[in-house]
Amino acid sequence: MSLGQKINDFLLRTRSVMQGGGEKAVQKQQAQGKLTARDRVATLCDDGSFHEYDLFVEHNCHDFGMDAKKLPGDGVVTGTGTIQGFPVCVFAQDFTVAGGSLGLAHARKITKIMDHALRMGVPLIGINDSGGARIQEGVNSLAGYGEIFYRNTLASGVIPQISVILGPCAGGAVYSPALTDFVFVVDKISKMFITGPEVIKTVLGEEISMEDLGGARVQSEISGNAHFYATSEQECFEQINRLVTFIPWNNRKRSEPFPPRPPRPEYRIESIVPDEPRKPYDVRDVVKAVCDDSDFLEIQEHWARNIVIGFARLEGKTIGVVGNQPAYLAGVLDVDASDKAARFIRFCDAFEIPLISFVDLPGYLPGVDQEHAGVIRHGAKILYAYSEATVPKITVILRKAYGGGYIAMCSRHLGADFVFAWPCAEIAVMGPEGAANIIFRKEISSAEDPEATRQEKIKEYQDKFANPYIAARDGHIDAVIEPEETREFLVHAIHVSHSKSESRPERKHGIPPF
Ligand code: HXC
Repeated sequence: MSLGQKINDFLLRTRSVMQGGGEKAVQKQQAQGKLTARDRVATLCDDGSFHEYDLFVEHNCHDFGMDAKKLPGDGVVTGTGTIQGFPVCVFAQDFTVAGGSLGLAHARKITKIMDHALRMGVPLIGINDSGGARIQEGVNSLAGYGEIFYRNTLASGVIPQISVILGPCAGGAVYSPALTDFVFVVDKISKMFITGPEVIKTVLGEEISMEDLGGARVQSEISGNAHFYATSEQECFEQINRLVTFIPWNNRKRSEPFPPRPPRPEYRIESIVPDEPRKPYDVRDVVKAVCDDSDFLEIQEHWARNIVIGFARLEGKTIGVVGNQPAYLAGVLDVDASDKAARFIRFCDAFEIPLISFVDLPGYLPGVDQEHAGVIRHGAKILYAYSEATVPKITVILRKAYGGGYIAMCSRHLGADFVFAWPCAEIAVMGPEGAANIIFRKEISSAEDPEATRQEKIKEYQDKFANPYIAARDGHIDAVIEPEETREFLVHAIHVSHSKSESRPERKHGIPPF
């Protein structure tokens, strides 16, 4: 063969693989509102930046008629590219090829790009669209999943790992996304569950649609498995583009700095938090009033809304924000809020992102439901995560900081480097009403006018403890600051903490209350 013929042959082979599972399968994919795997990686990455590898990999299975089955690229596209100029490793399962099912060769393509991401120290993005373990390949498919889970775990805290669910992600396959840092879902396209509707019908006799079982809304509002929800694949890729700009490539690097920008003038910090301690407000407005360009990337926006987490920037540097949300359940800590915050805190700590906590909460949520759901075990996670974190930790007490909630929300006692409190902060074991009812119970019940005495005692307690000055007197907070000073204090605290170094006792690893 001449060189020209060899090139022609190469082009023919390439074109054939690039067609994926063929025209009919591609049309079926598109009719469901889904892009093909190659269109997905091209849209996700910067224009023309995606480079595909292992195009000619083929399976080696001879059972159940597999000899006759040509599976182009073995149903997965792998490669490297850039997103907003940042390097990334990507795999995208190709549903048009045997339903994106995972056999040994398919898994090896994925583990190869995972190993590459870990060696090169760049984020890994996996696009899942698959019928799961390739049934014909038996244990080899299961082996493939196991090798992926193992690498997900090794890479955890070393490189950021992002999972995008753009089709079915069923059975054990869900555990790779679950081991990664951020899971993206798209309305009507993502379907994520352990046991499908047919199994549920057989075993439990219940009829349920895939959507209601594990659709995008379920995963982002009810289960908390997903971190970002989008209404289209395009919007999902835009979200990933935004996220990538906030996080570092790996745990040895810091996030890329951006040009500093002031907050937008419409967010006026002095008029967000009401004086009345029970009145709700949106803590995200406080975040937007202090961060650069009021640009806050919220994570798990629709789940455990009583706590808000996300990324923002201060003078161009990425910060991780945790804030109680008084606009939802008064901002209490419960099982889900604690899980949500703890995992995020650990991500920030692993990737050297300073943590800023905004505190306004009445404490942990009381009640039988919470006790039975394990609020002790789950609630301990946030304590553990904050205590374990050695990144700069800065806390701003906006209003209420009661009881265990005060301690849990990155108090000085859990190692906060700076604790600031607004003049309206109330730091106490519990709210004045509850406190007065307990410690003055006898005086109140034996008084001539119990209600008047109760009000008097509430006021007495409030005057004594419902302010930041006792905590300031005893050094539990570093400064009482005016709301308008918050950004300046935070910027300064981040600046002086830049070289923070804190060690922990030597150990193999801690044992968090998982
Ligand atoms: C082999 C598979 C497959 C699989 C789909 N296909 N899933 N081939 N192994 N797991 C093939 C189909 O045979 C078909 O091939 C093509 O992919 C497209 O599938 P359709 O069924 O036509 O597509 P659709 O109607 O859209 O339905 C999608 C689906 C369905 C809901 C995902 O295919 C399905 O239920 N698949 C099986 C899901 C499952 O039970 N997987 C195993 C889970 S257990 P042709 O040649 O006809 O085009 C598991 C264990 C992992 O994953 C454990 C890890 C620890």
